[in-house]
Amino acid sequence: METLPFGHPSIVSRIFRDKRVLRESYLPPTLPGRESQIEDFEALLSPLHYNEPVPHILFIGKTGTGKTAVVKQILARKEAEFKDSFIRFEYINCSRANTAYRVFYKLNRIFGILVPPSGLPFDVLYDRFFEALSRSKIRLVVILDEIDIPSKRGDRLLYSLSRINSELDEETTSLTIVGIANTVNFLDRLDERARSSFNPAVIYFPPYNADELQAILLQRARLGLRDGTWEEGAINYIAAKIARESGDARRAIDVLRMAAEIAEKENSIKLTVEHAKKAMDAVSEQELGLAIRSLPLHHRFVLLAIAKLLASGDERPGTGKIYRSYLTITRMHMAEPLTMRRVSGIINELASQGLIETKMSYGGAYGNTKVVTSIIVAPERALKLLGSVAMR
Ligand SMILES: Nc1ncnc2c1ncn2[C@@H]1O[C@H](COP(=O)(O)OP(=O)(O)OP(=O)(O)O)[C@@H](O)[C@H]1O
Ligand SMILES: [Mg+2]
Repeated sequence: METLPFGHPSIVSRIFRDKRVLRESYLPPTLPGRESQIEDFEALLSPLHYNEPVPHILFIGKTGTGKTAVVKQILARKEAEFKDSFIRFEYINCSRANTAYRVFYKLNRIFGILVPPSGLPFDVLYDRFFEALSRSKIRLVVILDEIDIPSKRGDRLLYSLSRINSELDEETTSLTIVGIANTVNFLDRLDERARSSFNPAVIYFPPYNADELQAILLQRARLGLRDGTWEEGAINYIAAKIARESGDARRAIDVLRMAAEIAEKENSIKLTVEHAKKAMDAVSEQELGLAIRSLPLHHRFVLLAIAKLLASGDERPGTGKIYRSYLTITRMHMAEPLTMRRVSGIINELASQGLIETKMSYGGAYGNTKVVTSIIVAPERALKLLGSVAMR
């Protein structure tokens, strides 16, 4: 039994044991559901133990499937194993601007070469790094996380890095790229040169199913929440819901944290399914709110058209109906409408962002058509959120 510090009862949380465990940055002791990916990754890295080169590797999987978590965990382990050896690991997140430069800036720094943070021609950075690496006789493993964000530069970066090996003495020196991408067709989108010189072994990270999410959430609950303050049913509810809509562990953990916060705010002694339900809605709403703000104007119009149709009781509007509603909306906002084909593309994009769900409807009056079945929040809420952003 904890004693409340006298005079500061609010400091002690009733439900949370350690809130950090439910934050994004926390790296748990094990990663349930990712055993086979970890095994494959370690097998691919095993030549390092015999001082042999390792092939390039690519992690592919949608957001929240544990790619960064797996790489961080293995990295910590391998860095300890290979301490004081000629093997080096370097983790770089590519999601910031001017990536190729930044990557080579960091790569040069491994060898103690300090280049200015901007301004030098790319070739100069490349040559300095190449010379230092050739002389060093090390095996370097460079992890490029979120490599699909800078699309154009990604090609050049991958091409220039992955062809380095052919110019190194592979008996002693090599460079392995571990790329991490969440666009599932990332390889197809690379240009031919980059693809053929990179040519990675691919490790696929599928979305988590309900059992896996349950294991992930149970681990967080046991570590981060107090004993006896949460119902396992609440966890099962979140796991089942998220598995159905995305299989995204980040989102599942966000919902659990939000559920605990809600339970606490309500002064409840236990986190229940009711809290989990409220948290699901709150997190979806937050997410939709954020997403809407970064959507281009016509995506907003299309989403508005869908929300209006769903709110008016149309259960599964098809592309044609959505397009007509979209035309009315563009007219109201005095905007030039896009073609039906383009709007159909926007519907697909909204679905792949997880903001709406679609389904093929076969053999109706119009043959096979795509219909929208839901928005991630109640359509009335969606209308309200859309009403709060400017339609300009
Ligand atoms: N198998 C797992 N066990 C425990 N926690 C996990 C597991 N997979 C993911 N997580 C947690 O979920 C969150 C998201 O995971 P992670 O950052 O690895 O996703 P990602 O695949 O890199 O996604 P993105 O493509 O958006 O970068 C992190 O907080 C991570 O610790
Ligand atoms: Mg990641």
